[in-house]
Amino acid sequence: MKKRIAIFASGSGSNAQKIMEYFKKHHDAEVVIVLTNNPEAYVLQRADNFEIPSHIFDKHEFYKTDDVIRLLKNLQIDLIVLAGFLWLIPQNLIKAFPDKIINIHPALLPKHGGKGMYGDRVHKAVLEAGDEESGITIHYVNENFDEGETIHQSRFRIEEGDDLEMIKFKGQQLEHQHYPKVVEQVLKKIKSE
Ligand code: GAR
Repeated sequence: MKKRIAIFASGSGSNAQKIMEYFKKHHDAEVVIVLTNNPEAYVLQRADNFEIPSHIFDKHEFYKTDDVIRLLKNLQIDLIVLAGFLWLIPQNLIKAFPDKIINIHPALLPKHGGKGMYGDRVHKAVLEAGDEESGITIHYVNENFDEGETIHQSRFRIEEGDDLEMIKFKGQQLEHQHYPKVVEQVLKKIKSE
C-alpha cells in the first residue's frame, strides 16, 4: 500500500502545491488530505485542483478535542507535513504521531525561529541581523516551535542589495526544490500504519 501523507497549511500553500504535484503519480506515496485552520487559505483551492479532500478546523477542535487525531488515524496517515502551518502542534497530536510530523522553516535554525517567527517576519529578522547567508530548515516537530531534530538544511548567500522580497524568493526556490524530496526520504524510513 502507498504511504499516506497529510498536509497542514495556513496560507497560500505553494509548498503544499509542490508536494501534491510531486506525489500525484508517485509509486509509493500519495497526499490524501489537506488540513487548515484558515477557511480563507488559498491552499484549499490548490487541494481542490488536485481533487484532494480538505478539512478545516477551529481552535476548539484542534486544542480541546481528539477529532483531528481520529480523522488522521482513520485515514491511516503515515506522515504529517506542515507547510506554512502557523499553529503550535498540541501534545496529543505529537504523541499520536511520534517522529511522523515534519515542518519547514524559512531560515537556518536555530537562528530566527520560535513563536511568532513565520513568513516575512523571518526574512525581516535575517535582514536586520545583517546575516551573510540564509536558507531553509526541514525538521521533526516537537512540542516547541522550531525545535525538533533537523533533517535537512540548504543555504544561499545574501548579496549586497538583496531586499526582503529577494531573500524570500531565494528561500522559496530552495523550499520548492527540496521539500518534496525530503518528504520522500523521510517516508522511506517509516513503516506503513
Ligand atoms: C514557507 O516559506 C514556510 O517556510 C513558512 O511559511 C511559508 C509558507 O509558504 N513557514 C514558517 O514560517 C513556519 N514558521 P507557502 O504557503 O507558500 O507554502
